[in-house]
Amino acid sequence: MDTVRTFTEPSHALALSPRLFFYQQPQAQEDVLGELLQGLRQTPRAIAPKFFYDATGAALFDRITLTPEYYPTRLERQIFSTHGAEIARAVGTERVLIEPGSGSSEKVGLLLNDLKPCAYVPVEITETHLLTASRKLVEEYPWLEVHAVCTDYSDGIEVPPEVPAGRRLLFFPGSTIGNFEPAQARLFLAQLHKACGKQGSLLIGVDLRKDTATLNAAYNDGDGITARFNLNVLEHINRLADGDFSTDNFRHLAFFNETASRVEMHLESCCQQTVSLASETLSLRAGERIHTENSYKYTVEGFQALAADAGFKPRQTWLDPSGWFSVHLLDARSL
Ligand code: AVI
Repeated sequence: MDTVRTFTEPSHALALSPRLFFYQQPQAQEDVLGELLQGLRQTPRAIAPKFFYDATGAALFDRITLTPEYYPTRLERQIFSTHGAEIARAVGTERVLIEPGSGSSEKVGLLLNDLKPCAYVPVEITETHLLTASRKLVEEYPWLEVHAVCTDYSDGIEVPPEVPAGRRLLFFPGSTIGNFEPAQARLFLAQLHKACGKQGSLLIGVDLRKDTATLNAAYNDGDGITARFNLNVLEHINRLADGDFSTDNFRHLAFFNETASRVEMHLESCCQQTVSLASETLSLRAGERIHTENSYKYTVEGFQALAADAGFKPRQTWLDPSGWFSVHLLDARSL
């Protein structure tokens, strides 16, 4: 690609083909190192889950979704495949379909033929994923117009002015909402509400609370892929901050915390050890934990109440036959 224009320039879109437009949105400068060190200095120590996703972490997550124990991805796909036509009847066709954190845009493919949106707007920080997925989609769906926005959606969801006007459908599958702390989830839902505009809706996947054994198994798969995913965060931060964490000195720990209704992931220090990272030295006791992720599990009513706080009114909810995973269609009320 020769030039990339940003939203601040008079003409924003770079037309890569007659139906594929690319936008690069300027991003807020982040103090990644500062955030990392602050989390590791606090008690208990923590590493934010976004540090899981280097190339190896992203590939390991894809492998987690294929393990027999990790049911969310499989069940959500099942809901989309089984109820696609019904979802489309409820949503309506010709919507502007916007997907924050679209990654490889795999799930939307299960709904496109039914939804027949007038435009698809994937919003994704990794340019290679965004472009590969968008090119594939315009090839596979000869009627589809794609407006690909390369940016970090956590900075807010801004829709380029070139995107056709029309009622919007925000699409946020995968139960990623479960990785936000409830207060953050409410704020993020409010951002989604804002992005819905007038008469917009949200279609969102939410994992549900269930028996502890099933939840514990989902985050402790027998092949140890989730353990590798968790430990890989140390390799990633070693590269980011010139650190010397040894994955041999930590063990993966994941369990359902019933009181908080969340699966917690931690890395537990196997021994008394000293680790250096950037210019800091960290001393960890044997058994000391670094908290790496929370994955909140909601009830249908609990999630609807959270969404209502952000201005959404539930319209319809679909569950898989076991009642383990939910997909919600919610309408943005005008506030
Ligand atoms: C991305 N997210 C919804 C996953 C989850 O289930 O919370 C991340 C994950 N962590 C361990 N396994 C999967």
